[in-house]
Formats: sequence, C-alpha cells, structure tokens
Amino acid sequence: MKRILVTGAFGQIGSELVPALQNKYGKDNVVAMDINTPEVFDGISERFNIMDKQAVVDCINKYQINTIYHLVSLLSARGEENPSVTWDINMTGLKTILDIAVEKKIQVFWPSSIAAFGPSTPKDNTPQHTILEPTTMYGVTKVAGELLCRYYSIKHDIDIRCVRYPGIISWKQEPGGGTTDYAVAIFYEAIKNGSYTSFVREDTVLPMMYMDDAINGTINLMETPRDQLGGFHAYNLAALSFSVKELAAEINKSVPVNVSYSPDHRQMIADSWPKSIDDTSARQEWGWSPEYDLPKLCQAMIENLKQKIGS
Ligand code: SER
Repeated sequence: MKRILVTGAFGQIGSELVPALQNKYGKDNVVAMDINTPEVFDGISERFNIMDKQAVVDCINKYQINTIYHLVSLLSARGEENPSVTWDINMTGLKTILDIAVEKKIQVFWPSSIAAFGPSTPKDNTPQHTILEPTTMYGVTKVAGELLCRYYSIKHDIDIRCVRYPGIISWKQEPGGGTTDYAVAIFYEAIKNGSYTSFVREDTVLPMMYMDDAINGTINLMETPRDQLGGFHAYNLAALSFSVKELAAEINKSVPVNVSYSPDHRQMIADSWPKSIDDTSARQEWGWSPEYDLPKLCQAMIENLKQKIGS
C-alpha cells in the first residue's frame, strides 16, 4: 500500500496534487507537509521546515512513508531575489529527501522545469537531451537536481521519477514567484478588473500546461512499472505554447480584457526559455498525453475562477 508524503503540499501544485492523491489512495495514506499549513485541512498535515532533516526523518518514520512527492522549491523570479537561499532550499531539501530515500527504499517524484534550459538551448521543439545552461539560480538548481537524481538512481538504485514541467496554469491556488505567473494572473485580473498589465511582451511564447494535465501526468508517471521506463530521465513534458497576445485574444472571447504591456526583469528570464518542447520520450515510455488545448484551458479557468472570486 502506498504511504505518501507530499512536501510543499500547500503550494500551487501541491494544493491540487494532494486531493488527487487522497482520492486515489485514501486520506489516511497521504501526509501534506509544508512550512505553513492551513488552519482547516481535510486530511493529515504536518508543519515543518524542509531544512530540518530530523523533522523530515521523524515524519517519514511516524507515517511509514514509502513514496515522496518532493515539491518544496523557490521559483525562478523569487529565486533571483536571494540566489543563495534558493540554492540552499532547493538543493539541501532535495538531497535530504534522496538520502532518506536510499536508507528507506522510498520512491521519489521530483519536478524539474523548463527553467533547466537557457539561452543556448534550441528554442523550438526543444529535445530531451540538449544544452542545459540556465541563467537563473532556480534553473541551476533544476539542472543540478536532475544530475543529483540521476546519480542517486544509478549509484543507489532508488526509484526517482522526474519531469520538466512547463508553466502551469491553475485556479485553486495562485502561483508565487514564477516567471510564467502572468499566464495565471491575466485570468484573475480579467475577471476582477477587465484589464491586465503584463510583465512580459505580447509576443512572448512559453510552453504551458493546465493543472489537471500536470496532475494526471505526474500520477501516471509514478504508477508506470519501473522496467517500462528507459532509465532515469527528467522527462520533457509539453502541452501547448502561446503568446500573451494569443492568450488575451482567447480570454476576450468570453471575458473582455484590456491588456497592456510593461516588461520587467522577468522578460529576460522568459526570453531564456524555449518556446516549445519535444516530449516524445514521455509519450512513448509512459503514455503521456495532455487533454487541454487553449480554448479548453481558458474555458476551465474562467468557469472555475468566476465561481471562486465571483462576477
Ligand atoms: N513556473 C516556473 C517559473 O516560472 C517554471 O518552472 O519559475
């Protein structure tokens, strides 16, 4: 039976992964850990800092954890405000989890990102194996993390599964500190105010994905028999790519939104990432296949956000 720990459980991805895991494996088998936890939560939660290794060990022992989704991370834009702290949290946290995984034979999921790529990476249909020279500390921790996961999976034969998420678009929890956050914020502002000022240019194109696809893909990857996978990969994962202008035009079909553009320091980060991703390995090895195209994504975001914030 799976006994699951999700770290960073109340962040953008964790907030939706935890209920999905609870549905699949039962509430008693999922522990939601974060540095801050909500007052009211329907399930098991634990509050501690990922830098406190003893607290991590105690939690894993207490609940007899055999599977960890390690989501704690500072993202790209916030990471640049304090690169040193970003390195510590992203790398020390991961190494702690991997060391415990070796000792206790735990299966691990760890998210990498399109931020592992950089300006020297081919921008279109970016291959699985390519140049990884990121220009953010977040991206550096993703490349180093991928290498660390590869090392541990080979050296210690632990079962680690990784994907490179694109920007993830969701409505339950607002993202924080990421460069791709504009593609979420535009929905909130369209519904609340009918206008949005984008911090990247209108022609900025990045790979994106609706949260439901990200959650389904993540759980499917973890459920795939290990011998079906061709060794360790941080799998490229694609769904759709669009410019801010195209996104605004699609939103405008159902909610009027007046978009202006005021690019800031995040433009440079966005410009360093690919426009589209080749995810053939994920499709072939474990059947990755996203369901949401741009119209379906916009419809889901608008319907759900209207219920959440009104108007
Ligand atoms: N969404 C992330 C960011 O913008 C990319 O992994 O930082």
